[in-house]
Amino acid sequence: MGGKLNVSENCLDRHLGTARENKAALIFEGEPGDVRTITYKQLHFHVCRLAHIFENMGVGAGDRVAIYMPMIPEAVVAMLACARVGAVHTVVFGGFSPEALKDRINDCKAKLVITADGGWRRGKVIELKANVDKAIAGAPGVQTVIVVKRCGNPVNMVEGRDVWWKEAWAGAPNTHAAKAFDSEHPLFILYTSGSTGKPKGVLHTSAGYLLGAKLSAHYVFDLKENDRYFCSADIGWVTGHSYVVYGLLANGATVFLYEGAPNHPEPDRFWEMIDRHGLTILYTAPTAIRSFMRWGDNYVLRHRLDSLRLLGTVGEPINPEAWMWYQKMIGKKRCPIVDTWWQTETGSIMITPLPGVIPTKPGSGTLPFFGVVPKIVDSDGNEAPRNSGGKLVLTRPYPSMLRTLWGDDARYKKQYYSEFPAHPDYYFTGDGARQDKDGYFWIVGRIDDVLNISGHRIGTAEIESALVSHPKVAEAAAVGRPDELKGQALVVFVTLKAGHETSDALKEELRNHVGREIGSLAKPDTIRFAAGLPKTRSGKIMRRLLKELATSGEIKGDTTTLEDFSIITALKADEE
Ligand code: WT7
Repeated sequence: MGGKLNVSENCLDRHLGTARENKAALIFEGEPGDVRTITYKQLHFHVCRLAHIFENMGVGAGDRVAIYMPMIPEAVVAMLACARVGAVHTVVFGGFSPEALKDRINDCKAKLVITADGGWRRGKVIELKANVDKAIAGAPGVQTVIVVKRCGNPVNMVEGRDVWWKEAWAGAPNTHAAKAFDSEHPLFILYTSGSTGKPKGVLHTSAGYLLGAKLSAHYVFDLKENDRYFCSADIGWVTGHSYVVYGLLANGATVFLYEGAPNHPEPDRFWEMIDRHGLTILYTAPTAIRSFMRWGDNYVLRHRLDSLRLLGTVGEPINPEAWMWYQKMIGKKRCPIVDTWWQTETGSIMITPLPGVIPTKPGSGTLPFFGVVPKIVDSDGNEAPRNSGGKLVLTRPYPSMLRTLWGDDARYKKQYYSEFPAHPDYYFTGDGARQDKDGYFWIVGRIDDVLNISGHRIGTAEIESALVSHPKVAEAAAVGRPDELKGQALVVFVTLKAGHETSDALKEELRNHVGREIGSLAKPDTIRFAAGLPKTRSGKIMRRLLKELATSGEIKGDTTTLEDFSIITALKADEE
């Protein structure tokens, strides 16, 4: 407390006047193949300009700014310009629907939105500006929208509210004296799913967050001056915040930024780009690795991949088979793999090998990073014996921990610090895990009402509240089923209001409805209509039974608290 800094200065100005000044900060490749290299000096110019533009618009310290953009350099510029003027950004992944964007804008009362006309994805334009227009129809607090021209698709510009990035640009000076903000000044809010219908605004502040991101990037990726680092995560997720933007730029690294899909125009796009740009580090998700496996080795074998020296994974447990494939096919048994466990809330990597230092075991995140003290505990918070599973907690504070949930300190305390009354200082991660005889950590997955679908966190309650907002739906229960590709697939059980018939067309309508409410990433894989849902005598839906049913087609677990057993018989009979 009491220290001051400017996060953008730490990512940019500190490299000026050094040998890094003319080093590439960003190498960008758009999906259509356009390439742009931006040096630290140039990135600094851009950020300074946008900082002036913000100030001229009256956007400054503490104001919230929503960023809804494709993976283009301007998105990075927007984040850093917010940091420069002390504004708090909330980046909303471009795959979220207008409805989800609206909720986030309203929750944090953003007055400025930065977007693009569109972004490229599998050769098609994702119409971001049109989505922003729909969102703002229900978000009256937004005063200004800055729009980057990316795809050239037609957009509707609202006089007095919307400005083109290029036009706002003209005339703004390209130097900007950065003010120092308190070490605890809010840096960003990032919404993530929890166990209620409403996403949580995880708040990160400045100095501690930056330290966590910078130090971990330095050690976990063992950064070298000439590295060309590629993280495939979108900046809409925390991985993009910490390990595309802040952690890497604070280290003066060269970051490769790719806009589009990994299988466009062909499933070898990543490998082709790795060779062409000489990329040295790849940080991606297990679900992506499993897709690459499925697409076939031939796409990989066409390319040399000899520039790579380090591989990383994040987002979900990696199955040993995918780990071995990654090591052999991509790393050619030459590259260490770092399996990094962390969360939106932790801000930076918590459990990870240090390459070349900590021997790895396929599927284990290995050991805690410096200063991190995790424990596996039972329901009372007592340490579990080795090799017996339990709940994963973090027992000590660390610099990049979340500070609160935006606007809801009570929910923050309840969510993270109420699980073990005997240990009110234990942070509960929501994950189940075990420690083996060597003390290595093996993450099993979420044990709360949160699903991990393709490495994306989705709360069952969010899906359910989206479904019950449909006029024909009476009740809904969402559960996960193991899936080879996605890790977990989303299965929903739906009961209809009286007078409505089940049909395949209605299933499709419900899938699209969830897509509109949340985004395509939340569309159910399977919808099962049911006459009733299994409940306890107190009326709680027994998701545990539904999960069993969705997974194995059987229910063998304890059904003694079930209110009406005939519901289970009917559900099984309804099987598709
Ligand atoms: C949840 C956090 C942290 C960036 C991406 C996801 C799961 C994350 C691993 C890993 C096993 C992992 C956990 C965690 N998870 N990394 N290496 N091994 N599980 O961030 O959306 O906040 O999700 O992702 O279940 O709690 P997030």
